[in-house]
Amino acid sequence: MTVLTADPAARPLDVVADFPAIPAGWAYLDTAATAQKPRAVIDAITRGYDTDYATVHRGVYQRSADMTLAYEAARETVARFVNATPDEIVFVRGATEAINLVAQSFAGTTLKAGDRILLSTLEHHSNIVPWQMVAERVGAAIDVVPLTADQRIDLDAMARMLRPEHKLVALAHVSNVLGSVLDVRGASELAHAVGATILIDGCQAVARLPVDVRALGCDFYVFSGHKLYGPTGIGVLWGRRALLDAMPPYQGGGSMIDRVSFERTTYAPAPTRFEAGTPHIVGALGLAAAIDYVQGIGLERIHAHETALVAQAREALGRINSVRVLGPADSAGIVSFAMEGVHPHDIGTILDESKVAIRAGHHCAQPLMAALKVEATARASFGVYNGPDDVAALAAGIERVARIFG
Ligand SMILES: Cc1ncc(COP(=O)(O)O)c(C=O)c1O
Repeated sequence: MTVLTADPAARPLDVVADFPAIPAGWAYLDTAATAQKPRAVIDAITRGYDTDYATVHRGVYQRSADMTLAYEAARETVARFVNATPDEIVFVRGATEAINLVAQSFAGTTLKAGDRILLSTLEHHSNIVPWQMVAERVGAAIDVVPLTADQRIDLDAMARMLRPEHKLVALAHVSNVLGSVLDVRGASELAHAVGATILIDGCQAVARLPVDVRALGCDFYVFSGHKLYGPTGIGVLWGRRALLDAMPPYQGGGSMIDRVSFERTTYAPAPTRFEAGTPHIVGALGLAAAIDYVQGIGLERIHAHETALVAQAREALGRINSVRVLGPADSAGIVSFAMEGVHPHDIGTILDESKVAIRAGHHCAQPLMAALKVEATARASFGVYNGPDDVAALAAGIERVARIFG
């Protein structure tokens, strides 16, 4: 599969052969839900459970010592990937757990009645519900930044809304529905100007854009491994060292302690303090392999590749009368759309008959659906393995839907 990128000077991306789960002729357009896995990741996971398997951090025998080195090397790989230091990287189950950890250990211990949390209209439920739970517990209130006319988080509105009572801001770097890209640096400056701490949900960004947490200027950054071509069950919380050091543990158990007695228990420093129990050892190895894989291609190339596919898809869908394409023109790798008189589930089912896999539903963003005045949308999302033939299959499938419902 040969792909033209937005930058004609860039080498075309031709990597679908790396993905054993994508048979010829199947247009997999649901990468925003979860990315397919390259052979390099599958091999790393297989090796982890096959020849190399042992526990970490406690074995006195060589195999366990080797596995500990590999697990900690994976943490270093993650740290380099986002320009952080390894002691700022906490392995968690995924973005959902990372946000819950910050909600409970940071917001739950520092916010008080009368404080406010600022979210946006386009957040995924996992960047809404944990804040509602903690707000209810401590007596804080939640405010919601609206979207601009072209469906981005409205930073001008955010600047007008922010007050010193806002202690925590939590926003998506890239919307999982609209693909809108946030100016994280700008949002961080606004939050910091009123003394608020800012968490960025990078779930949809890390596989699509280069991410440098220092340059972005945020305080916490979270993402899931499975959307980055890595395994499920592993994800990352990055936090500024001083913030992590001041936070109490999220869960108690083995591995996260310094000393335990029935009288008093003391905790290990971060990040160990936040990793209670036997970790997802092989998941971390798989995530590191996924990071090596995307870095081997280059995030800038991936971004250019997906930008070109989004432009082609928006153009092709825009030509079909009954289709309303959502989101800004420069969305990152994700195109949501609605069809007059057709439920998105029917679109998804008919496309599946033509071997085109899209997502249909509320995408865990019901407040956004309400703001867009739709029940659900159809969503095509791209990855490194997609090409113009997948866009053509999508457009042909949608034309068929239009004929059926004609
Ligand atoms: C923007 C965004 N945030 C958070 C999540 C939650 O990720 P996970 O279910 O892997 O924890 C998702 C997953 O769809 C997402 O797209």
